[in-house]
Amino acid sequence: MIKYEIHGGNELNGEIHISGAKNAAIAIIPAAVLVDGICRIENVPKIKDVTLQLEILCDMGASVRLINEHTIELDCRRLYTTKAPYDLCRKIRASYYLIGSLLGRYKHAEVALPGGCNFGVRPIDQHVKGFETLGATVEIKNGFINADAGNGLVGTNVYLDIVSVGATMNIMLAAVLAEGQTIIENAAKEPHIVDLANFLNSMGASVSGAGTDVIKIKGVKRLSGGTYSIIPDQIEAGTYMAAVAAAGGEVLIKNVIPKHLECITAKLSEMGAETVFFDDAVLVRRHMPLQKANIKTMTYPGFPTDMQPQFTAVLCFAKGASIVTESVWDNRYKYVDELKRMGASITVDGRTAIVDGKGSLNGAPVKACDLRAGAAMVIAGLAADGVTDVEDIYHIERGYEDIVDKLRAVGADIRRVEVPDTEVMREAN
Ligand code: EPZ
Repeated sequence: MIKYEIHGGNELNGEIHISGAKNAAIAIIPAAVLVDGICRIENVPKIKDVTLQLEILCDMGASVRLINEHTIELDCRRLYTTKAPYDLCRKIRASYYLIGSLLGRYKHAEVALPGGCNFGVRPIDQHVKGFETLGATVEIKNGFINADAGNGLVGTNVYLDIVSVGATMNIMLAAVLAEGQTIIENAAKEPHIVDLANFLNSMGASVSGAGTDVIKIKGVKRLSGGTYSIIPDQIEAGTYMAAVAAAGGEVLIKNVIPKHLECITAKLSEMGAETVFFDDAVLVRRHMPLQKANIKTMTYPGFPTDMQPQFTAVLCFAKGASIVTESVWDNRYKYVDELKRMGASITVDGRTAIVDGKGSLNGAPVKACDLRAGAAMVIAGLAADGVTDVEDIYHIERGYEDIVDKLRAVGADIRRVEVPDTEVMREAN
């Protein structure tokens, strides 16, 4: 068993460099299926979800060349099947982006129902609605999503009943090679949606309006290869900013797009942390006691749901009651029981959590129950009194590149340790 062992109480000081955006990379990689050429993709984060997406494509006949740590050349011109490997796909939510790209390029896709973090029900009805509106037939059978557009896809208007990141991106993928124009209304506006559109346009597509709630896609005949660099990860940056707020100190977070972080810095200022923006960096410092604050997650540009667990952990170190409202997912508080092991006082009622901050937590053995919940455990451990062991760290390494090294570089006492099975067994007994 591998865990993180954290000795809490150190302030964080120094610099952290942010990697490429996970939620952009894991959409851009399957988008390469649409490209009749070689895609050179730069600033690719070294995370498990990226490796998995590449493994899936290689299993279908794609070739990948690693140019350097963060640059790949991806060639999907010789796929030999439109059926994606079941076991690999069910491990990751973003495997569903293969439906849009395979349907768009080959008029057929067979992809396993997606996996991903367990936030309760995660339907894909809006994805299916989009594909069917473009003229495909979609059937879910034997755990597979079978989508077919024998006569080709035809551009049209698609109104999303709910603002969905995944559906917006998947419909965009299906529409770039379709006949005529597609208009996605009530579209999601997250930075990774803009990044996918920019990637597609750099390969010859005609997508406009990404980042607004109306996206127009003029179908083109062919996408040719090219080079594209992925944006920095908004949520990775936000996670380290939250860590500084919890542990105290002063850290320069480098390689960020300040605009993407405004929703996070606004909340940090309310909580008593200072932030200073530079062109592509943000300085976060906290020396004064943390203040309580209320948080409501929203779709972009509102406060991101993928920062909710991390900030709930931070609020445990403030004094007084804070109200956290989760408006995107119906069940994203599973991690609260783990924080309670550290002495947190949090009452969850449906989509609302009331955090009764005591100003401190105690170290304890806890589990990462999903990606962002895992990040919240690390943040809690950094500021807690004593030692925190975080288990099930595979969740964290799905989406954070070199988190231990990055935190150690700013003074955190965190180690990635292997626990021999014998010891695990002994502890279990
Ligand atoms: C993406 O998930 C992200 N994942 C999630 O980040 C993030 O939490 C979420 O967007 C919201 O920002 C990836 O990009 C891989 P949605 P996605 O479709 O696309 C409902 C992380 O930590 N809905 O925007 O699955 C849905 O149930 C991960 O990096 C439908 O009802 O989210 C939810 O309540 C975790 N029908 C809401 O919309 C649909 O067809 C938003 O979901 C689709 C979604």
